[in-house]
Amino acid sequence: MTMHTHTLGTTGPQVSALGLGCMGMSALYGDADRAESIATIHAALEAGVTLLDTGDFYGMGHNELLIGEALRTAPAARREQALVSVKFGALRDPDGGWSGYDGRPAAVKTFAAYSLQRLGVDHIDVYRIARLDPAVPIEETVGAISELIEKGYVRHVGLSEVGADTIRRAAATAPVSDLQIEYSLISRGIEDEILPTTRELGIGVTAYGVLSRGLISGHFTGDRKLAANDFRAMSPRFQGENLQHNLNLVEALRKIAEQKGASVAQIAIAWVLSRGAQHGNDIVPLVGARTRERLAESLGALDVTLEAADLAAIEDAVPAGAAAGERYPAAQMAHVER
Ligand SMILES: NC(=O)c1ccc[n+]([C@@H]2O[C@H](COP(=O)([O-])OP(=O)(O)OC[C@H]3O[C@@H](n4cnc5c(N)ncnc54)[C@H](OP(=O)(O)O)[C@@H]3O)[C@@H](O)[C@H]2O)c1
Repeated sequence: MTMHTHTLGTTGPQVSALGLGCMGMSALYGDADRAESIATIHAALEAGVTLLDTGDFYGMGHNELLIGEALRTAPAARREQALVSVKFGALRDPDGGWSGYDGRPAAVKTFAAYSLQRLGVDHIDVYRIARLDPAVPIEETVGAISELIEKGYVRHVGLSEVGADTIRRAAATAPVSDLQIEYSLISRGIEDEILPTTRELGIGVTAYGVLSRGLISGHFTGDRKLAANDFRAMSPRFQGENLQHNLNLVEALRKIAEQKGASVAQIAIAWVLSRGAQHGNDIVPLVGARTRERLAESLGALDVTLEAADLAAIEDAVPAGAAAGERYPAAQMAHVER
């Protein structure tokens, strides 16, 4: 496995070809094993992964504390290479409920102060609001991040799940390193307008849900019991007939994977990488591995080369729009700009 690095957008940091998304280590996919989570972060850093993604609301600070511990206990050379990307702004309640987003400048600075403390770092590498706050112009939210950059607390502005108009307004306010957004074989909504916009403006993409939260990993089975605190128990794509339809797509993908001597997850990750290959490798998948075993599998995607014939076969097996069910329940879909 060779770990290449790419610049995130024209103004962002140099990052590894794959990033590690740490969300599932603290929230949303049922319980995780803390020691294994830290071992996974260490193994990722050891393999040359430099980008760690989190959100202050993943387990209400749990994920940042976890990353902080992993960084503190990593060898100094690895710790110094690590870049932390943080999302803020989600309002939560003690029951785990979601109550909107706060992008007011004073709130941005407060969120940042707490994140720096939990992570145990003196700066955040990329800072972004998780969803647009409809009550606050994006210029004000980005302006507050710019002030944090001037003071040295943040290095780069990022965006998350926003549409072309917001991307343009943000980029007119400050240089934007990357847009974090869902992108996979079965979530291709960014291709028509959003991706051309990021490319025009020199903004990179950090893609999440590359395995559609495990659905197209090749490991998910129709009889898997999901805990009540698992997002997938409410996700339209994981329900009843939708689930069966989507798992049938995975079986079509499995045939291609077998011919390539790769796993289904590796094919799905390699496909996302291939979408940026002609554009200066502007798409960096954030893999959501939370065990060393899954991490090793994900990293193996970097050794998979998809030729034109492979890409055509994949497109045939899983054409754009093939998935059944939206990627979020309706209430959460309302917060993503399309
Ligand atoms: N900006 C946003 O709005 C947003 C939203 C969501 C996530 N994110 C970020 O993106 C990161 C990745 O998202 P995601 O976790 O949904 O991505 P994902 O990679 O699509 O899904 C990860 C899940 O897939 C399963 N899986 C099965 N095989 C795997 C393999 N070989 N490698 C990795 N995972 C495998 C695991 O579930 P099991 O362990 O249950 O098998 C894992 O928890 C998150 O950690 C977070 O940092 C951002």
